[in-house]
Amino acid sequence: ILGKNTEAREYLFKILVVGDLGTGKTSIIRRYVHNIFSSNYKSTIGVDFALKVIQWGPDWIVRLQLWDIAGQERFGNMTRVYYKEALGAIVVYDVTRPQTFEGVTKWKNDIDTKVALPDAWGGGQIPVILLANKSDLVQEGHGQHANPTELDQFCQENGFIKWFETSAKDNSNIEEAARHLITSILKLE
Ligand code: GTP
Ligand code: MG
Repeated sequence: ILGKNTEAREYLFKILVVGDLGTGKTSIIRRYVHNIFSSNYKSTIGVDFALKVIQWGPDWIVRLQLWDIAGQERFGNMTRVYYKEALGAIVVYDVTRPQTFEGVTKWKNDIDTKVALPDAWGGGQIPVILLANKSDLVQEGHGQHANPTELDQFCQENGFIKWFETSAKDNSNIEEAARHLITSILKLE
């Protein structure tokens, strides 16, 4: 089911959204799908789902099935089940909390050991992007902007296709990041 439906001119991509507790995964998805933001924190339990439908060029529709996986799930044993048949992933950290950046490599390893592309697509690692979220708080004097040279190198060394500095609050860079991930998946087929 996941992949390409030529008749309907439709793609359906399962995308994982992971990262430590409170880094903003649910907020990013809410902003992207419903264009809303709330500063109330209600931790996700297990996994939530959202669907984003995107007109892709004149002829195609991309349906992104977003799997919003609770940060606390890194310590559970369900991720293997959640990751099944995913074609891409987004790892999120919080620029105001450096310890959430340490979670990034752990999440990436978890993904790389538990999910792979379908055999027809070569069976390699699924494309993963890195989001440095809550950039609006840096403007307010909290945390630090990502160092582009360092993050480029980090991405190269850890197999991320690209990083973006995002804000779910300000709606910055989320669309761009998603487009980049979709483009990378489409290049695989
Ligand atoms: P878990 O479900 O517990 O894993 O957390 P999560 O990653 O889904 O985080 P969530 O989206 O619930 O956000 C946690 C808190 O951070 C909430 O209070 C959000 O309002 C806040 N938050 C998320 N993104 C941003 C952002 O870009 N800027 C600011 N200022 N706050 C944000
Ligand atoms: Mg959540």
